[in-house]
Amino acid sequence: MVGRWVVCAAWPYVNAFPHLGTMVACIVSPDVFARYLRAKGEDVVFVSGSDEHGTPIEVEARKLGIHPKKLTDQLHDYVVKLYEKLGVSYDNYTRTENEIHINFVQNFFMKLYENGYIYEKEVSLPFCPNCNIFLPDRFIEGVCPHCGEPRARGDQCPTCNRVLDPLDLIDPHCVFCGSKPITKTTKHWFFDLPKLSDKLIDFVMNHKLFSDSVKNYCKMWFREGLKARSVTRDNSWGIPAPFPGASGKTIYVWFEALLGYLSATKEYFHKKGCEDMWLKYWVDGDSKTVFFIGKDNIPFHAIILPAMLMASGERYVLPWQISSVEFLMFEGQTFSKSRGVGVWIDEALEIAPADYWRFALILMRPETRDLNFTWDSFYRIVNSELNDNLGNFIHRTLSFIYSRFDAKIPKVYDLDDNDRSMLWKLSFAPKNVGSLIENLKLKSAAEALLEFSSAGNQYLNDKAPWKTIKENYRSASTTMWVAANVVKSLAIIMAPFMPHSAEKVWGYLNLGGSVHNVSWDEASKANLREGHVINKPEPIFQKLPEDFVKTIGEKLREIRLKLKRPELA
Ligand code: MF3
Ligand code: ZN
Repeated sequence: MVGRWVVCAAWPYVNAFPHLGTMVACIVSPDVFARYLRAKGEDVVFVSGSDEHGTPIEVEARKLGIHPKKLTDQLHDYVVKLYEKLGVSYDNYTRTENEIHINFVQNFFMKLYENGYIYEKEVSLPFCPNCNIFLPDRFIEGVCPHCGEPRARGDQCPTCNRVLDPLDLIDPHCVFCGSKPITKTTKHWFFDLPKLSDKLIDFVMNHKLFSDSVKNYCKMWFREGLKARSVTRDNSWGIPAPFPGASGKTIYVWFEALLGYLSATKEYFHKKGCEDMWLKYWVDGDSKTVFFIGKDNIPFHAIILPAMLMASGERYVLPWQISSVEFLMFEGQTFSKSRGVGVWIDEALEIAPADYWRFALILMRPETRDLNFTWDSFYRIVNSELNDNLGNFIHRTLSFIYSRFDAKIPKVYDLDDNDRSMLWKLSFAPKNVGSLIENLKLKSAAEALLEFSSAGNQYLNDKAPWKTIKENYRSASTTMWVAANVVKSLAIIMAPFMPHSAEKVWGYLNLGGSVHNVSWDEASKANLREGHVINKPEPIFQKLPEDFVKTIGEKLREIRLKLKRPELA
């Protein structure tokens, strides 16, 4: 039976370009997963978009002295092109400033209101007397009451990842002018989370697939007791709150962005002219939703989103799995735009081709603990793994067939133990890689792919067809038939990780069509026909120069000068 899936990738704020950490967590990982599922013949919708509202955008826009919409318009267009270059197979990459999303959010919140989950309350909140604005979320910074981080923000601490209330901050100040805030009363609309407490605890703690890190984070929330959360803000940039009496207020960015997964699916099918089709993915109980996020997003996806879905009174499917990763560090430091620590997607794509990044990032995917990106490891992965292992196996096999067998797939004669063992690996490796992907162990899946090609290299070394071709043609021919089938298998299982390179290999094999339309199960079959003519192969990958690590700093400076980023100010 074909399964129905929604692959949901966290929506990056478009106040900046994604850096390597975001790329691995929310861009490349879900793409590998979505591409794999499609190859398995599953029914997949892969959605994400630009998160355009909220204080992160407003802070940046104010800094640049432009309207937030101008910022998000330009950055959205810019990142969309980069995602194309990276080969991300979104079915719909949209944005939160879009009609369908805005209407969806407003209707959804009216539902929660009518169902009795929203109530209004007068509250005192920090206010900057100098800037004359309330200071929610990232408009305010101070010391984290939990871990002492001096630059904790009003919504969350970047160090301990606790979700905060602006009034929790010790020694707070306005991020724009540094003033000490006063408090002022205002009215807000609250989401009654406590009302759903039992249901939420049961949902998370008895969830069969949620990881320990997801459960542990939620346990902390549950232990402290769920609090009602304010879903409105006084900021004008955002989606107007639809509640009676709430004119001038907007919906808090997190509450609306999460609904983007649903509205983006809706928009996708709307564009295809099948208006109600999205309901099959979100309401029908047998579809599966998988969320790819960084660990700081856990409470929103594991608690807030399910809470909203429950409170709507519709029979929405609740999160089936959450793939949250730890942080990727950059040479031992946290990525920081202001301090210029890290590499951003546009720069990365100038340094090396998309597939190199995709694969290297998956191999450095911080699945169980924070991991460090280093140029040394990037260099090693590209040169030793992609070139010396994978690329070398594919190229030596194809070029040997091209030059010594007249470009024709050789005939298979008698199989010896070594051949049989390689063929067994061929039938097993794709299943193994596949089941690791299904279990969201993408790093191990990429490692298993490399082990398979490494076994291919070992096999060729043992069989030495370049020798046997002179003294034992039947053996050489059999070896090369087996090896060619391993190449075919590798092309198919490379496809989710390295879509461009896989397509190249498929082209050399001359098997017709696109590797992206070939079924995953085909990778377990050794079925190349004798005499089938292949195309002239070229090496798939290129090595990075020996002085790569030494010169990367200088290279990056050059790239930064040359890049044509949108002119924002
Ligand atoms: N914009 C948020 C961040 O970058 C993630 C939002 S995920 C969403 O941390 F789906 F809720 F949009
Ligand atoms: Zn201020």
